[in-house]
Amino acid sequence: MRAPFRSAVITGASSGLGASLAVAYAGPEVALGLVGRDRERLDGVAGTCMAAGAVVETAALDVADDIGMEQWLTAFDREHPVELIIANAGTSAGTDPGAAFEPGAVTTRQIAVNLVGVVNTVAPLLPALCRRGQGRIAIVASVAALRGLPYSPGYCASKAGVRAYGEALRPLLEQQGVGVSVVCPGFFTSRMTDRWEGPTPFLYSGERAARRVKRGIDCGRRRIEFPLPLVLGMRFCDLAPALLGDEIMRRFHFRIRAA
Ligand SMILES: NC(=O)c1ccc[n+]([C@@H]2O[C@H](COP(=O)([O-])OP(=O)(O)OC[C@H]3O[C@@H](n4cnc5c(N)ncnc54)[C@H](OP(=O)(O)O)[C@@H]3O)[C@@H](O)[C@H]2O)c1
Repeated sequence: MRAPFRSAVITGASSGLGASLAVAYAGPEVALGLVGRDRERLDGVAGTCMAAGAVVETAALDVADDIGMEQWLTAFDREHPVELIIANAGTSAGTDPGAAFEPGAVTTRQIAVNLVGVVNTVAPLLPALCRRGQGRIAIVASVAALRGLPYSPGYCASKAGVRAYGEALRPLLEQQGVGVSVVCPGFFTSRMTDRWEGPTPFLYSGERAARRVKRGIDCGRRRIEFPLPLVLGMRFCDLAPALLGDEIMRRFHFRIRAA
C-alpha cells in the first residue's frame, strides 16, 4: 500500500524522527496513534498534529510492555483501521569509556525496546492488516544493523534483529497485500545523537532524514537506506574477511552517554 494513509500508528513519536514523521503525516481526515513515554513531549507533538487537522490519540507506553501495547493498538485499530505502522521507538547505549564490555542488563534492555518493542508494535495489528488485505509497515533499524560496531553490541544486535524481522516479514506479508519497508538510516540529528560522542560521518539533519524516510514509505520502497557511502562502508566491512572488518571497526571509537 502507498500514500495517502488515512490512519497511522507511530511509536517513538515524542521526539526526533518519530515526531517529525507524525507532523508530516498529519492532515485533515487522518487519524494518528502516537506512542512514546514522555507525556509532555508527546502532547506537544499531538497538539501540532491536531492543529494540522488530524485526529490524534496518544499513549504514554513503554513499547516493551507487550500487554499494554496489544490492548492500546487493538482498541485504536477498532476506531481507526490502521493503514500504516511506523515502528520507530528506539534506545541506544554502549560500553563505558575504558570498559572491556557492555553490561548484560544494558544489552538486554536495548533488545527489549528496539527488537521486542517492534514485535509488540507490529504483531498485534497483523491479523487486522491481513484480514483487510492492505497496509504498510515501516520498521526503523539502522546502518548499525549491517555490521556490528564494537562499542555498542546491544544496539547493533537489536537493530540487526529488527532488520532481519522486517526482511522476513516482507515477502511473507506481500502475499496478503501488506507492504513492509525496512529503514536503515545513518546518523541524523536528534536527542539520541546528542548523547553520542564520536564521529558522525555524513550526518543528516533530522528534518532531511524524516523527508527521506517519508518519501520511501510513501512510494512503497522495500528498503530505505542512507547515506549511500556509509551503507556501502558498512556492507564492505561485513563482506570483508572478519580480521580486516574487525580492525576497521575497532578504530571507530565512540561513546554513548547515558540518557
Ligand atoms: N539518530 C540517529 O542517528 C539514528 C540513526 C539510525 C537509527 N536511528 C533510529 O531511529 C529511531 C528514532 O531515533 P531518534 O534519533 O529520533 O531518537 P530520539 O529523538 O531519542 O527518539 C526516540 C523515540 O523513541 C521513544 N522511546 C525510546 N524508548 C522507548 C520505550 N521503551 N517505549 C516507548 N518509546 C520509547 C522516545 O520516547 P520517550 O523519549 O518519550 O521515551 C522517542 O520518542 C530509533 O529507533 C533509532 O534507533 C537513529
